[in-house]
Amino acid sequence: MNGSILDTIGNTPLVKLQKINPYKNVEIWVKLEFMNPSGSIKDRIVKYIIEDAEKNGLLKPGGTIVENTSGNTGAAAAMMGAIKGYKVILTMPDKVSIEKQNALKAFGAQVVVAPTSAAPDSPDHYVNTAIRIANETPNSFRINQYDNPKNPLAQYLSTGPEIWEQTNGRVTHFVASGSTGGTISGISKYLKEKNPKVFSFMADPFGSIYYDYFKTGEVRHDGSCSYQVEGVGEDHINQAMDFKMVDDMIQFNDDNAFTTARLLAREEGIIGGGTGGANVWAALQLASRLTEPAVIVTVIPDNGAKYLSKFYNDEWMKANNYKL
Ligand SMILES: Cc1ncc(COP(=O)(O)O)c(C=O)c1O
Repeated sequence: MNGSILDTIGNTPLVKLQKINPYKNVEIWVKLEFMNPSGSIKDRIVKYIIEDAEKNGLLKPGGTIVENTSGNTGAAAAMMGAIKGYKVILTMPDKVSIEKQNALKAFGAQVVVAPTSAAPDSPDHYVNTAIRIANETPNSFRINQYDNPKNPLAQYLSTGPEIWEQTNGRVTHFVASGSTGGTISGISKYLKEKNPKVFSFMADPFGSIYYDYFKTGEVRHDGSCSYQVEGVGEDHINQAMDFKMVDDMIQFNDDNAFTTARLLAREEGIIGGGTGGANVWAALQLASRLTEPAVIVTVIPDNGAKYLSKFYNDEWMKANNYKL
């Protein structure tokens, strides 16, 4: 602790839904991860991984941090680079909102945009672009959030214990969608160690490979990942995602995510991103199936301000054929 911005990471509030949960025997609590200083849950993993790299000599003064990111890990890395004096180079798919790209530049990071349509094995894919840049840049460190076991470990060590303590051990179900899977894998592991009966429920967008992989063990590419929700679902299997920690999954569409995010803002006063909408939608679906009293916890991974030009904008919703 030295009083810097980094000391404000974590210990986020847990808030109980008051109006949009019609299931009287089920409590739904949402962890406001957008209250982390760069605006998302990714502050936790980036702080943990960068400080670990410093301790182990993998990142040295004057070094460069490189990462592939849908935006939030990038913002966290850019914030860390700003306060700690590292150069930061971030690659992202071109579907990421302009607000997110500009947020990275505001922290002084360099942004490299890659085509969303590039296949996972293409050199143009944003992950492969980051690997190439890291290989070409002397004294660089790639966070490697997809395959770095310290990603789920950071969630296991911080968010999991916070949820356990904030619910006084009453949590019965944990719900989250995933990209790297660090959130659902790390938090579920911690909660299940505390109480093996805690049920872990993962939401996945139609077009992502995770749901089919969980149900059948096969990776089926429909070639798309063409959903509009930003930051979850995946086109490749990675090591941060531990399906052994997941008890069941549900698929959602963009309409489920965006409509629920808007409802959360208008009815609960919580303005989160599309994945927060998806997580709460999935929590409500789960609640509708439960017959016993339950305490469901989910996360609102990032801040709605990043999406004001998208699903919080009525004209954008109409132009993209969503219900208002
Ligand atoms: C907005 C948003 N929600 C959820 C997630 C998923 O988190 P995780 O990578 O831990 O699965 C991400 C990850 O990039 C994200 O950006």
